[in-house]
Amino acid sequence: MLNLKDTDLLKRASYIDGDWQTSDQTYAVLNPSNGDLVASVTDAGIVETEQAVFAAKAALPAWSAKSAAARCKLMRSWFDLMMQHQDDLGRILTAEQGKPLAEAKGEIGYGASYIEWFAEEGKRVYGDTIPALSSDRRILVIKQPVGVVASVTPWNFPNAMIARKAAAALAAGCTFVARPASQTPLSALAMAELAARAGIPPGVFNVVVGQDSRGMGKVLTQHPDVAKFTFTGSTAVGKSLISQCATTVKRVSMELGGNAPFIVFDDADLDAAVAGAIGSKYRNAGQTCVSTNRLFVQKNVLEAFTEKFVAAVKCLSVGDGLQAGVSVGPLINSQALEDVASLVSESIDQGAVLALGGQRHEAGENFYQPTILTSVTNTMAVARNEIFGPVTPIIAFDDEEDAIKMANDTEYGLAAYFFSRDIGRIWRVAEGLEYGMVGINEGILSNAAAPFGGVKQSGNGREGSKYGLADYLTIKYLCMGGLAR
Ligand code: SIN
Repeated sequence: MLNLKDTDLLKRASYIDGDWQTSDQTYAVLNPSNGDLVASVTDAGIVETEQAVFAAKAALPAWSAKSAAARCKLMRSWFDLMMQHQDDLGRILTAEQGKPLAEAKGEIGYGASYIEWFAEEGKRVYGDTIPALSSDRRILVIKQPVGVVASVTPWNFPNAMIARKAAAALAAGCTFVARPASQTPLSALAMAELAARAGIPPGVFNVVVGQDSRGMGKVLTQHPDVAKFTFTGSTAVGKSLISQCATTVKRVSMELGGNAPFIVFDDADLDAAVAGAIGSKYRNAGQTCVSTNRLFVQKNVLEAFTEKFVAAVKCLSVGDGLQAGVSVGPLINSQALEDVASLVSESIDQGAVLALGGQRHEAGENFYQPTILTSVTNTMAVARNEIFGPVTPIIAFDDEEDAIKMANDTEYGLAAYFFSRDIGRIWRVAEGLEYGMVGINEGILSNAAAPFGGVKQSGNGREGSKYGLADYLTIKYLCMGGLAR
């Protein structure tokens, strides 16, 4: 059904300490496009999660003792294998998650790029010397791996969200336990298969798959042998995981929800702004934390921009991700569709006007039409909540001050975007936006060399870049005395 060239990449059980832990207890992974069974997967729980933590702890001394160059070599092979199997990995990802195949293959390349980048960056974990206060002493700073790292990751990027955490962790010398979303375990298991083929030793990269998110999450957030916990997902769940981590004072990094503004100023190149907004909004059918959630357009270009934007969105083709030419896939499940549909109808009741779409799509149960709402205000439900669907609310604004004020009027602070060609305005707006990431004349900003992360209730910590590596290292101060001549 999946037409894999290498059928061994479709694994159906947790990968712990280098072994595939099969059992009769399974659950079904379904294709969101058509409800077909993709695979029956062994349903692991608390016991297996504890075993994975134990394995990661046991593997830590040998892995952290390897030279950065030796770790780099193994990670580089992992990267090469992922790229070699990009097509198969993309097919697995599309089958379990729904995004179009070209986009799924793009995600594999994106996830793999973190492994390649961090493999190299691991060689540049520099320490420091600091002038001491007395001549018989020396102050040194060394950096060491945090220890065992545990992650919980979402279904919207089943490969890349794990890759960018695990790559930084492994490069720093940490070992890793991944708990992917139960809807999308297969991409994570395929990564584990390739890690094994690359020669990454047993226990260094473990993947536990199962439906008991609460029980498994408790182990990963409260186990005394887990030194750091990293999560990507909603702000509500993140808050409760942070409080669970408090019991053992773990290092945490949290990549939580967003409510991204996308601002089009009257001096912008409108065609470029349309292309940027399409990429930012309709990628993954709007199911990303950095998706445009509110599109602000300056009043004097509102009509011209909206006309171009509606025309471009009309050209998007909706359907099963494995069909050629499809640009928007399904939502992850029927509940997600209900949530999106009710946000749209609530805002229409509040005065928003439907410029395009607004209905379920005929392609199947979980498909929703690419939708545009105009006459939206910043207080409507569709502007306050993370939409996570292919719906763009357009909000008009008067001037720069008005735009920045409305853009910042949210508890979230992950990504923001704006289009302008005025250099003074570019600096003012970039500095005025209370967000961790700002795309300036760009609708897509994620990449391995850059720090991904948010402020306010969008989380803390950074992924990618030297800052992302620092999140997996501890600083140790060495005070060397008795050096008097
Ligand atoms: C996310 O949804 O948080 C991930 C998006 C990205 O990496 O670009």
